[in-house]
Amino acid sequence: MNILLTGGAGYIGSHTAVALVEAGFRPIVLDNFSNSHPAVMERLARITGTTIPLERGDVLDTPWVESVLRQHRPVGVVHFAADKAVGESVAQPLKYFHHNIGGAVSLLRAMEATASEADMPAPTLVFSSSATVYGDPASVPITEDFPRSHTNPYGHTKLVVEDMLTALNAAQPNWRIATLRYFNPVGAHPSGLIGEDPADIPNNLMPYVAQVAIGRHEALSVFGDDYPTPDGTGVRDYIHVQDLAAGHVAALQTLLNKGKSFTVNLGTGRGHSVLEVVKAFERASGRPVPYRIAPRRPGDVAQCWADPTRAEALLGWKAQRTLDEMCADAWRWQQGNPNGYRP
Ligand SMILES: NC(=O)c1ccc[n+]([C@@H]2O[C@H](COP(=O)([O-])OP(=O)(O)OC[C@H]3O[C@@H](n4cnc5c(N)ncnc54)[C@H](O)[C@@H]3O)[C@@H](O)[C@H]2O)c1
Repeated sequence: MNILLTGGAGYIGSHTAVALVEAGFRPIVLDNFSNSHPAVMERLARITGTTIPLERGDVLDTPWVESVLRQHRPVGVVHFAADKAVGESVAQPLKYFHHNIGGAVSLLRAMEATASEADMPAPTLVFSSSATVYGDPASVPITEDFPRSHTNPYGHTKLVVEDMLTALNAAQPNWRIATLRYFNPVGAHPSGLIGEDPADIPNNLMPYVAQVAIGRHEALSVFGDDYPTPDGTGVRDYIHVQDLAAGHVAALQTLLNKGKSFTVNLGTGRGHSVLEVVKAFERASGRPVPYRIAPRRPGDVAQCWADPTRAEALLGWKAQRTLDEMCADAWRWQQGNPNGYRP
């Protein structure tokens, strides 16, 4: 039961690798470490008690991806590998179109080229999409049939890859494709051995808050306190990365057992404001998290949370962990690894 994880050394991929081992699968990590550190592989071995095979290289290299598929014959592929910094995507759109759309095309072509060969399993893919495909949603909670749009080149790449997958599946109904729209993944493995390791200044709220709590930054900038939300700050659906990882296992099992493609939201179904996250992190860490109010950021939406009903019905999956657990696990990771995976 080999499962190939492109971008498997990254934040979500590494937690999913652990969940797959626990569920009896054999993950194989394909990664070029453009946004991760090779030290994660040793941490994964410590957590799982097994060596997870690593294929080091670029998903854009189609002939090489074909050779990896031939070697491991995975029953499923999870495509995490992508660049994900929204601000960078605005500054360098071509990089994002090349890596994210080009990377998906390369992987899909490699899967298509090898699918018809003897002993190759039916093409089965899980794609990392994002709640960003809902753009600025008209209301909450968000169901999967809400209209899709994009507010930046990163979000645009997710939209284009979703459309590519729909067209591919229409042309080749034997493909089994799960499109997972993640809400806001946070937290870390409870061992404190793996977690989110932003290369420089974090783009996301929770790792920034963690770095303020540990003293790496003086204060958090809260972008806008005049949104139409209970405390005026932006509200998001934070989901523990362990719950998200379990969602991937459930999605793979559903694809393999039922043989049908689907698109689901992976979120908790409830939102928390920026200030609620700050307070929860202060409780978890016992440290103050100073903040200052800054102007709204262009493109930020007031509130965004999932309707997770379809995921529950289709996958038998539901997020379990609370905001306090998310903060406690993020803090354990931050404290034990102040420089992430770097020594
Ligand atoms: N973290 C989030 O908030 C979030 C939210 C929604 C969707 N997503 C999507 O989930 C996926 C995983 O996100 P993450 O947070 O784990 O990101 P991450 O950057 O931690 O992981 C991505 C991994 O892919 C690798 N990679 C990138 N380009 C590659 C390439 N061309 N070839 C091989 N490896 C490559 C990186 O080295 C990294 O290990 C991404 O597709 C991202 O867009 C993330």
